[in-house]
Amino acid sequence: MARVRQRARGAMAPVACVQAVQAAATLPYKQGMQRERELMDTLFQSAQARAMQYCFFSQRAAGKWSMPSGASWENSKPRPVHRAAVVGLGTMGRGIAVSLVRAGIPVVAVEMDAKQLEVARQAVTAILKRGVQKAGQEPPLELLRFSVDLRDVREADLIIEAVFEDMGLKERVFKELSSVCQPDALLCTNTSGLDVDRLAAATRRPELVVGMHFFAPAHVMKLLEVIYGPRSSPAAVATAMQLGKRLGKVSVAVGNCPGFVGNRMLKPYMEQAGFLLEEGATPEQVDRALEEFGFPMGAFRMSDLAGLDVGWRGRKGLGLTGPGVTAGELPLKRRGRRYSPLADLLCEQGRFGQKTGRGWYLYDGPGGRAAKPDPWVLRFLEEYRSRHGLQARPVSQQEALERCLYSLINEGFRILEDGIAAGPQDIDAIYVFGYGWPAHRGGPMFHAAAVGLSVILERLEHYHRAHLDIPQLQPSPLLRRLVASGSPPLQKWREVIRSVRSQL
Ligand SMILES: NC(=O)c1ccc[n+]([C@@H]2O[C@H](COP(=O)([O-])OP(=O)(O)OC[C@H]3O[C@@H](n4cnc5c(N)ncnc54)[C@H](O)[C@@H]3O)[C@@H](O)[C@H]2O)c1
Repeated sequence: MARVRQRARGAMAPVACVQAVQAAATLPYKQGMQRERELMDTLFQSAQARAMQYCFFSQRAAGKWSMPSGASWENSKPRPVHRAAVVGLGTMGRGIAVSLVRAGIPVVAVEMDAKQLEVARQAVTAILKRGVQKAGQEPPLELLRFSVDLRDVREADLIIEAVFEDMGLKERVFKELSSVCQPDALLCTNTSGLDVDRLAAATRRPELVVGMHFFAPAHVMKLLEVIYGPRSSPAAVATAMQLGKRLGKVSVAVGNCPGFVGNRMLKPYMEQAGFLLEEGATPEQVDRALEEFGFPMGAFRMSDLAGLDVGWRGRKGLGLTGPGVTAGELPLKRRGRRYSPLADLLCEQGRFGQKTGRGWYLYDGPGGRAAKPDPWVLRFLEEYRSRHGLQARPVSQQEALERCLYSLINEGFRILEDGIAAGPQDIDAIYVFGYGWPAHRGGPMFHAAAVGLSVILERLEHYHRAHLDIPQLQPSPLLRRLVASGSPPLQKWREVIRSVRSQL
């Protein structure tokens, strides 16, 4: 039972299952049945049941997409995809190629050099073989062709680019693709947050460019964000959405902005986690609060898994960090906002997370998975605080949880104001299926409504008063308006969103 409780992370149903089995094994038949009925009744009437039913319907509702232009699933026709191509066979490209092949779609997989291509070929083949091993079937290897020549994409109806997260490189690849592919081929990017419209501008047919943002590992994770730019045609969006369905993904259509929906909301959440360390918390404390809430991993364990260097390179590219960043007065500011350089400092020490065997935690060597608290990190935090004259204070579990979650939720409200997501259900589907938000808590926007919008508003105001240099904690106009309108249920937010949008 202890193990089930730990793995359930607050979900009632797995625990109730064990209790029902215990009753069956220890009580007379009639009493055992009675106990099971009581457990079922409790589950059926629980808030968790409502949250999970909501998740089920959010997933289905995401398929009924719409764009601000009025284009929607009802009036847009997808084009058939007979052949696809994937460009860039790193972590993501390999998983995307596997997904396509498993859906029976022939794929040309392109890398830039022969050595990298060979490594990718072996990795993709191994995943496909492992997938059919148990069933005793043959992997569909005949659907895959590997190449180092970009011109080999010419027969594809749809091309997914998954090269390094570098705008200049992606622009060059899109320009080249546009000149070698069929004139009506759909060009998709797997970027985690770069401007899809800028990539579209590098091509001859910007209306055929959309984002298809898969999550790692792409052949396992259920979520697909389909990003439409201002010039993406309804047919292009419909085609990407239908392909997502064919690949067995929960596909959600969203607008174009830095980080789209999922990563845009993750940013304030990660930033709060960093600020909490500056103020006195440890990575374990913050992670414990988030894991007890129900996330499979807290913010720091997740960063170690994803690789701290990924965000660091991005921040360096934006000019937010670099040598000398530590010399500034604390709290550091970047473009008028408080900025924590802690993750950058770890990277400067070569601590990239699991891949280097150390990051926020210590692992059993590079690639190790079991995270152990690292005394080095605690000393590093103490030195950092004393160097910058910061007084460590006790940070409660409640504060850690509220600051991380409520800043993420606040960004969700801003996304609704901006019209980047069509509604709260889309945001919730993204978080449950792509970011480990516990299904028994419905998703961030559902959770906000369940906690009470006025409570979220009050807590954000409280934390913002204490940290005026953190604009992410300033309650969004939409949240204020919803509270002023009597905190209507989620299904009735649409009207309030429309009225806030018209005044912004
Ligand atoms: N890794 C993740 O968790 C993740 C999740 C979602 C999205 N993404 C995005 O997916 C994209 C790829 O990320 P990744 O983690 O797979 O990167 P990666 O570094 O593992 O792989 C990139 C691959 O692209 C190849 N490449 C570079 N230039 C090329 C060119 N001109 N032609 C052909 N191949 C070329 C490289 O050789 C490399 O194999 C990025 O835009 C990233 O932001 C990554």
